[in-house]
Amino acid sequence: MILGAGAAGLFCGARTAAGGKRVLVIDHSAKPAEKVRISGGGRCNFTNIETSAANFISENPHFAKSALARYTPWDFCDLMARHGLTWHEKTLGQLFCDQKSTAVIELLLEELKAAGGELRLSTHVSGVARSDDGFTVKTDAGDISAHSFVIATGGLSIPKIGASGFAYDVARQFGHEVLTPHPALVPFTFTGAAKDTFSELSGVSCPVDAKAARGPDFHEALLFTHRGLSGPAMLQASSYWRESEEIEIDLAPGWSASEQLRADKASQPKQTLSAWLARHLPNRLAQHVLTWRGIPSGKQLANLSAGDIDAIDKALKRWRVKPAGTEGWRTAEVTAGGINTDGLSSQTMESKHVPGLHFIGECVDVTGWLGGYNFQWAWASAAAAAQAIAQS
Ligand code: FDA
Repeated sequence: MILGAGAAGLFCGARTAAGGKRVLVIDHSAKPAEKVRISGGGRCNFTNIETSAANFISENPHFAKSALARYTPWDFCDLMARHGLTWHEKTLGQLFCDQKSTAVIELLLEELKAAGGELRLSTHVSGVARSDDGFTVKTDAGDISAHSFVIATGGLSIPKIGASGFAYDVARQFGHEVLTPHPALVPFTFTGAAKDTFSELSGVSCPVDAKAARGPDFHEALLFTHRGLSGPAMLQASSYWRESEEIEIDLAPGWSASEQLRADKASQPKQTLSAWLARHLPNRLAQHVLTWRGIPSGKQLANLSAGDIDAIDKALKRWRVKPAGTEGWRTAEVTAGGINTDGLSSQTMESKHVPGLHFIGECVDVTGWLGGYNFQWAWASAAAAAQAIAQS
């Protein structure tokens, strides 16, 4: 039995049934795979061809390697092609479905049905217990017995569409540690003057390098919003961010502002600083950067002192912001943290404490970057569990 008819649960159901086992997939929602439906702006960024374990956050950075190596992005592309679906690469290896994301849901449902798997929606589970030869699951439609039990109920993000902490409760019940879940791939919020400024700049976007204290540099777009900072660069940084930490932003990614200023001071001395900045940043942002630093925008490059150049360089290359928080579970694309991988087999996703119990997908402490990695983890962890169950 598989609990959770999302990306991981449906895919695991289809592959387990194809492996010759009787499969029942249960979900408390009335519709399956709602997150697939809303993903990728309705076009489902279903994988990333650059996928490697380095694109995932986990207490154990090696855990995801085996499953990711055994079910690759190309395997899911083959499946898409068999269903007549096509795709395109948008950026950074991100593959988006050319059809609507509902076509990917259809694919999952057809695979499950063709293999003989059953799906029951709007079914509520109130408890799970071990039985002599497996598990007994209490539902509002009666008790169900199963030899193997797969938890694929996801994380806490977007409760409005069915997210619950069920996986964590079951994990704790069976002696697993749950690493504190926190919202990830989520916009930052600010208070006070910063919020007012960002709100004025709302809608402005520019390429940056953004970095949280414990994360890598992300070279993607930043977007100012009414509540703070968003855009892919900020969403990526948010997965590594912890309360009261700063984010360092480079508004001049890939080039040296001080070198460029010194060169332009020599070749175009009459140019004003505001005109110079507007060549490199969106105009509204350029004006704000000067105001933040208290540098008169009408100053000509010829009159810039070494101190001015340093100040502008710092403003562009090492802009530090301290978010008040994030938009939280309401808008977070994923949940970081979750079931500690120490208690799971990386080959089969099976519990080391309870034979026959598997955890797959987002409920596990494996969190992908933005860009199709989270679905690839859902497919790969589902395939690993399905293979083990089919062979059991
Ligand atoms: P998922 O959350 O998909 O499924 C869990 C299922 O379990 C749900 O159907 C839920 O109803 C059910 N459930 C929960 N509690 C239950 C309970 N107690 N009893 C029974 N059923 C229960 N990723 C990506 O790679 N590319 C993308 O383009 C996007 N885009 C995107 C957009 C938005 C807006 C969000 C919120 C998320 C994304 N993601 C994404 C992330 C991606 O959607 C996510 O990582 C996967 O859906 C996780 O798959 P799972 O199957 O693990 O959980």
